[in-house]
Amino acid sequence: MSSLLSRLSQYQTQGLTKRPVASGRLVRVVGLTLEAVGCSAPVGSLCRVETQHGEMEAEVVGFANDTLYLMPSDNLSGVMPGAKVTPINEEHGLPVGPELLGRVIDGVGKPLDGLGPIFTAEQASFNGRSINPLSRKPIKEPLDVGIKAVNGMLTVGKGQRIGLFAGSGVGKSVTLGMMTRGTTAQVVVVGLIGERGREVKEFIDEILGEEGRARSVVVAAPADASPLMRLKGCQTTLTIAEYFRDQGLDVLLLMDSLTRFAQAQREIALSVGEPPATKGYPPSVFARLPALVERAGNGSENQGSITAFFTVLTEGDDLQDPIADASRAILDGHIVLSREMADAGHYPAIDVERSVSRVMPAIVDDEHMLMAKASRQILSICRKNQDLVSIGAYKPGTDPAIDQAFAFKPRLDQYLQQGMKDVVNFQMCVNMLRSTLQG
Ligand SMILES: Nc1ncnc2c1ncn2[C@@H]1O[C@H](COP(=O)(O)OP(=O)(O)OP(=O)(O)O)[C@@H](O)[C@H]1O
Ligand SMILES: [Mg+2]
Repeated sequence: MSSLLSRLSQYQTQGLTKRPVASGRLVRVVGLTLEAVGCSAPVGSLCRVETQHGEMEAEVVGFANDTLYLMPSDNLSGVMPGAKVTPINEEHGLPVGPELLGRVIDGVGKPLDGLGPIFTAEQASFNGRSINPLSRKPIKEPLDVGIKAVNGMLTVGKGQRIGLFAGSGVGKSVTLGMMTRGTTAQVVVVGLIGERGREVKEFIDEILGEEGRARSVVVAAPADASPLMRLKGCQTTLTIAEYFRDQGLDVLLLMDSLTRFAQAQREIALSVGEPPATKGYPPSVFARLPALVERAGNGSENQGSITAFFTVLTEGDDLQDPIADASRAILDGHIVLSREMADAGHYPAIDVERSVSRVMPAIVDDEHMLMAKASRQILSICRKNQDLVSIGAYKPGTDPAIDQAFAFKPRLDQYLQQGMKDVVNFQMCVNMLRSTLQG
């Protein structure tokens, strides 16, 4: 295992005083957790554990009486009973700086792209700093994401946090990729958490492309990474986004997926003995979700913004999943991708009717809002009456609103579709929506 310690020690903060620490020993392994006695270290700190193959690092994730619960960032092979456990009495942070742009890193900031080590002048804490809610700038300006359905009908504001709710294979990755290429944000930070390893490469090579990659930082902690690595991967993604925001830049953060973050936290919490509550998720999961999501958003007056898209998996397309439910409540809007639309070849499969951007009324002009509303009405009338029309039970001329809605529907459907390589800027989206509705 490549040593987390040696990676981190490259970046150690200068001038920290090191106190000698007592070593302990391993007494038990349960699932993914190591239990050590005889040493003491704070939650969140690292310990060095001796194994048959050398040393590995593990993070303190909890304690009970004199026992420390540790979780390694890699697999447990080679761990022996009674192995020596030494707390690492040094602070460490995540290296942050413009050097990260164009790079692909793992959950703790180690490069994965073979382009050499990353040296940065600064480090930041994985946990971020909380911002006084009163000093956050309000969301006032739209952020261009280059997708007609979003810019036109579900306008996203700089500093907004949106959930992208979808089942598997309905176009989450493609939609996020379209945004990285189409957005006017200066920096894009992508967290690929708990996805298949193959998908990571595909996302970087095919979906992101050269042009998207130059202003992006990709953090990858795929499904085979340890739960701690996946959890850290999410924190790393947020930490990097915060760094660029604090430089005054507008950042687009794309996290695929928030559900995998919740699952990683579930694995860790269950293995340290927290009782499961809703659908096997222990209560700490529902406490950590808002703590993560709240790190995105606007900074104070002289800082930039983090506009964030968190994908949320709705297994079996069930929007009532506890993570989907909890996420909807803490996000400022949600975009639902519909399997039915994807099956019909309507891409991006954004179900406008079931999606909402809570900040849209505050950031677009009255005409734009009116057009979005009218379009929603058309979609809603058509959906409600589709069955009647299909079986011929509706006679044209009976209700002018229905006639008009069906007349506009094909044009609106055309407006809402977009090829995966196409980028349409914000003003163009508004103009196209206007001409669609002027018929
Ligand atoms: N805008 C688009 N235009 C054309 N095809 C699209 C578009 N968006 C998605 N697709 C099609 O949908 C397929 C699945 O998309 P994608 O890989 O983004 O889904 P996903 O939700 O990320 O899947 P998974 O859950 O497996 O990660 C793509 O391979 C592509 O064929
Ligand atoms: Mg995907």
